[in-house]
Amino acid sequence: MNRQPGAISASMMCADLAHLREDLDVLAQEKVEYLHIDVMDGEFVPNLGLGVDYIRRLRDMTDIPLDIHLMVERPEDKLDWFGIRPADRVCIHYESTRHVQRTLDRAKRYGCKVMLAINPATPVCSVEEVLDTVDGISVLTVNPGFAGQKIVASCIKKTEKLSRFLEEAGADELDIEVDGNVSCAYAAQLRRLGANIFVAGSSSIFTPDGRVRREQAAALRAAISG
Ligand code: DX5
Ligand code: ZN
Repeated sequence: MNRQPGAISASMMCADLAHLREDLDVLAQEKVEYLHIDVMDGEFVPNLGLGVDYIRRLRDMTDIPLDIHLMVERPEDKLDWFGIRPADRVCIHYESTRHVQRTLDRAKRYGCKVMLAINPATPVCSVEEVLDTVDGISVLTVNPGFAGQKIVASCIKKTEKLSRFLEEAGADELDIEVDGNVSCAYAAQLRRLGANIFVAGSSSIFTPDGRVRREQAAALRAAISG
């Protein structure tokens, strides 16, 4: 397997706004690689979430690159809104556009890493024709839209299947991100099955009231290393 070592993407929808400054400092000290931004439009997912102004404000507060997860209909029309930078990741859902390849191609113009996300019911083979266009696949291990959900059990096997699929396709350098209920225990298991980017929300590094749990950040790092 030629995949990059494990990275943490801290899920900012789980962070308490009242303590954002302090918690961003903790996340920087823990060297989290990305801040995961769940952008939700109330159409693609049954929730509204982090938007353009939030991202702009966050940029003033931190240099940690963003992992922008677009849970919106027609992302191709909205890509320009987010001020995407070369160090960022942007993640587009297979199910959100009729023109998946063109949308991914458009996202590449920002010089960032481009990810294709698949919902729990979307089969692994859906990604086959765009392997040369993406930098990685994001496996939604819950139906997206809300933090604090329970993992869809079949998505564990699906991650293993994706890993094997990429290997057989000669694309085992592509990143595999896992998003949803990624506890330290699931992270360790999913790492063994091939995942290398771990979205860390209320199941690991955030308390229910939205503070970063430092010891959990260290535990997650240990679970995904080696
Ligand atoms: C998907 C989101 C959630 C969440 C992750 O819509 O990305 O998966 O923030 O955190 P937990 O650990 O609460 O599932
Ligand atoms: Zn997400």
